[in-house]
Amino acid sequence: MAPVMRALVNPAYDPAGLRAPATDARAFHEALPGYAPTPVRELRDVAQQLGLGAVVLKDESDRLGLPAFKVLGASWAVERALADGAGAAVDTLVTASAGNHGRAVAHVAVARGLRARIFLPARALPVRRAAIEADGAEVVIVDGGYEEAVARAAEAGRAPGALELADVGASGPAHWVVDGYATLFAEAAEQARFDVVLVPVGVGSLAAAAARFGAAAGVPVIGVEPVSAACLTASLQAGEPTVIATPGTTMAGLDCAEVSPAAWPDLRAGITGTLVVTDEEAAAAMTQLAAAGLSIGESGAAPLAALRVLARDPDAEPLRAAVDLGEWSRVLLVATEGRTGG
Ligand SMILES: Cc1ncc(COP(=O)(O)O)c(C=O)c1O
Repeated sequence: MAPVMRALVNPAYDPAGLRAPATDARAFHEALPGYAPTPVRELRDVAQQLGLGAVVLKDESDRLGLPAFKVLGASWAVERALADGAGAAVDTLVTASAGNHGRAVAHVAVARGLRARIFLPARALPVRRAAIEADGAEVVIVDGGYEEAVARAAEAGRAPGALELADVGASGPAHWVVDGYATLFAEAAEQARFDVVLVPVGVGSLAAAAARFGAAAGVPVIGVEPVSAACLTASLQAGEPTVIATPGTTMAGLDCAEVSPAAWPDLRAGITGTLVVTDEEAAAAMTQLAAAGLSIGESGAAPLAALRVLARDPDAEPLRAAVDLGEWSRVLLVATEGRTGG
């Protein structure tokens, strides 16, 4: 078996032509009940250990009352879809999810007086299923992986009264989800100074929003993937979206076999490079964050694990050079979720 490549410099990186980040979602989010910008925390010990100027972490463990960033995309996509004329006929929101997006859609459905049907892959943790059911949604467990759940949700989304809220694909909602995530980066830019961003990648919608932000701000963006679900790394290497096998990872939100078509153009031109991490490295990063008083889940801790690889691994030298990493660097880690307890 070929040795695992830890770091990739994107050969097609050319951010000049990227669209500007969306701006209209932010006012919508700010008007939601309970809205507050999530905090940015400084990790002084990490910066010192790795010889960096500063490491700051955007903590998404409590976003609008939910333990992940995903409600930013789901809420904006529902708003846009209902405003686009689907509104009157819709009584049920339908989506597939590895967990966090489904919970966000269930939450948005309650807020709008709608029902929700969420399709989860069989390997989704029972604790994630229970959290979605507690929000009053119907959960359908699909025999297969995330991609099978996506296919089932697409079918169910064609029923009368249903509105499919996919965060993957080429549909309107898949684009609006990316637009909704712009709020996270706009907040971060007001809260801290940073000159490189590390962001976890599942289907790449969040990373696409990061890439648009980075292109406008002149900040390089690195995508972080599980070693066993590195679909963006494979796609950037191949120069086209590439489906990979996903044998499983504890980083459940990142366990995706392919990038979202809605995200791909921004990823291809706007991601400086990628890093891959193991489940053990993500667990160690979680433990380190817990010791610092931060309750962050596996997918959310992946960027800290990746920063170690970036700073120390010999394979990462070309990517270190591409982002000019050194004692002057100020790094933003996007910690996308709190601990889910599973
Ligand atoms: C906690 C967490 N982090 C990161 C991601 C990755 O986001 P995307 O699928 O947009 O790449 C997800 C997606 O579900 C997630 O739940």
